[in-house]
Amino acid sequence: MRMAIRFVLPLLLVLGGIAWGGAPLVGSLVERWFRADVEMRSQLVFNSIQETVNGLVLTKADRKIDALFKHITQDERLLALALCTPDGQLTQHSVAWPKGLACPPAPVLDHAFAVEHIDGGPVLVATFALAADNTYLGRLVILHDLRFIERRSDSAELYLAGFLALLGLGAAGVTVVVARLTLRGWVKAIRKGLSGQADAKDDAAMSPDVAPLVQEMRKMLRDLDTPRVLSEAIRVDWSPDSLRSVLRNELPGAEVMVISNREPYIHNLEDGKVVLQRPASGLVTALEPIMRACGGTWIAHGSGSADQTMVDEHDHLLVPPDAPAYTLRRLWLTDEEQDGYYYGFANEGMWPLCHIAFVRPTFRASDWEHYVAVNQKFADAVVAEAKTPNPVVLVQDYHFALLPKMVRERLPEATIITFWHIPWPNPEVFSICPWKEEILSGLLGSSILGFHTQFHCNNFLDSVDRFLECHIDREHSTISAGGCTTQVRPYPISIEWPPAALSVQPPVEECRKSVRKGFGIGRDTMLAVGVERFDYTKGIADRFHAVGSLLEAHPEWIGRFTLLQIAAPTRSRLSAYRETQDEAEKAAEAVNKCFGREGWLPIILVPRHHEPEEVFTLFRAADVCLVSSLHDGMNLVAKEFVAARDDDDGVLVLSTFAGASRELREALIVNPYDVRAMGEALHMGLSMPAEQRQERMRLMREMVGENNIYFWAGRMLLDAARMRKRHNIEHRIAAVTRRAITTGGT
Ligand code: G6P
Repeated sequence: MRMAIRFVLPLLLVLGGIAWGGAPLVGSLVERWFRADVEMRSQLVFNSIQETVNGLVLTKADRKIDALFKHITQDERLLALALCTPDGQLTQHSVAWPKGLACPPAPVLDHAFAVEHIDGGPVLVATFALAADNTYLGRLVILHDLRFIERRSDSAELYLAGFLALLGLGAAGVTVVVARLTLRGWVKAIRKGLSGQADAKDDAAMSPDVAPLVQEMRKMLRDLDTPRVLSEAIRVDWSPDSLRSVLRNELPGAEVMVISNREPYIHNLEDGKVVLQRPASGLVTALEPIMRACGGTWIAHGSGSADQTMVDEHDHLLVPPDAPAYTLRRLWLTDEEQDGYYYGFANEGMWPLCHIAFVRPTFRASDWEHYVAVNQKFADAVVAEAKTPNPVVLVQDYHFALLPKMVRERLPEATIITFWHIPWPNPEVFSICPWKEEILSGLLGSSILGFHTQFHCNNFLDSVDRFLECHIDREHSTISAGGCTTQVRPYPISIEWPPAALSVQPPVEECRKSVRKGFGIGRDTMLAVGVERFDYTKGIADRFHAVGSLLEAHPEWIGRFTLLQIAAPTRSRLSAYRETQDEAEKAAEAVNKCFGREGWLPIILVPRHHEPEEVFTLFRAADVCLVSSLHDGMNLVAKEFVAARDDDDGVLVLSTFAGASRELREALIVNPYDVRAMGEALHMGLSMPAEQRQERMRLMREMVGENNIYFWAGRMLLDAARMRKRHNIEHRIAAVTRRAITTGGT
């Protein structure tokens, strides 16, 4: 409406001005046209009767002249006729000749026209000289009523003003419509141009009015991306301090929340006493240092038998217990929920689906229902715990594929960073999942979706491409669906540097001695270690077979080498996990039976959980660390081994199917399905000269030290910060254009 007024009013004023000044002009023009017309008529009348009148004057046929005048004045506009003598005496005239009107003066030429106001109206007085055979006979006067001209010129002025008013309204209407369409087109073009969905074809088709504006805005947004280039080019020493300063400077006032199934601190009741336990989870290992650095709220399932006794009335607990830095919010699940959501859908469905370990995924509708409900329960907790409308929510892993979308619906301003800690399968494998569309669109509620490797990002993009309707920008690795854009990027996870567990370690020599003594291993026995959860993806039995192969191919190691395998039982309620443990125990037994001797075993299997400090002592005691995952997102054990070796020694034998093999290139990379090759790699590791071991270890330590967990989190937070700035700019642009439209259109 306002836009209409803004356009219509000035236009009407301009046209009104034109009408005001122009109408009298038109009036006089019309008058002149008609007067010329009447003059011509007078001339025609004169021409047609001149001969007759001359004859009648010469013959003095007065009565005939009267009759002629009477006949001619029947034309309503011809008012009167008169005859004058050469000396100007009025001799004869028609009936309507105005009383008292004398003969006009003789025309200088043969005729003259004049306008007289007679009886209040204009009258054209046309005077024609009458002559015959060079004898001047007098003059004929014809009077024409000109009042009709006045009337016509008034009407003409009125019509013109009306016409101009209509023209004005029409032009204003057209202008408003064109302006609104143009503005809409601009806004659409700008939005598309900035959304990253525009391709070269769209750019070429962009209106020249909008193109410079879009280019300018794109430049602004590109400038925002510069810090990423810098952060990746300049090797900052990433530490808790640099992470804190990223938060302070790039995300000022941002509230950080972590959502994971596994909690970082578990309180269990053991022999009537509450015991604190740190879970054997790579995810917890990675995230805990970040929360210690940043503070915030960590929402997780309270799974410990004494967990409920340790929280306040809001189910909150400040952790770490010895130096509180952040809040742990424990969420309680019923046994049914845990069976369906955790054991069922997450660990019997998603886990085998995402890992190529040839264990068949099992999908049950009842598990799915629990998975949906528990995701909703955690999403509700996020909303309840959020103190701001736009927290940075760090969603962890395959337990919460639906939560990003659920949180997005309730906290649309939130920055949701989801990290998928396990591999992502190719579309053929993913298509097995009966709820694949729901999983994908749930994850696309995230602002950023991270995987360990580019390969897994590509698999995810391919899966979305195959199963969802959306726009995928492969160049920028973004997916736009339902008005929401998700950036998909690789962020290889890592560990804290230097690791806290290292600070309490005795020197390497002491570790070597104490571990050998503790496990009954000979002082000079070469030691390989393996540290895992009893999971079928870890290839534990395969590595035992590799030990058998080593001893068979290189009997010189018999009695001189032992593999110490620590394996924490996990998810033991599931048969696949119990079978993994059985299989591993049987494989160890078989190798020990085949090669073991009095006082020496090639494999020592310890099926219990170890705290990080104990694990670090084992790493420091070892000559070789063996990581033979059949498939693994990253595998942080490999990085922890490297971190534990501040003596720059030790050999890492690492599966090519663990994400860590992309970064730890100085490890001896093996195919865990090739038992003989793995045995050879063990032999090579055990025989490697010290210089080469140290050179390799130094390079790997450099890599892990630089690409530590603060770097992992820092890169994601920097990306999130850039995304928030970008959204702020886009929102401001959208608000301005919206305001332009609504103030113009309402
Ligand atoms: C490993 C995986 C993580 C996963 C965790 C779950 O650490 O790398 O991606 O979240 O296991 O372990 P849990 O014992 O909690 O089932």
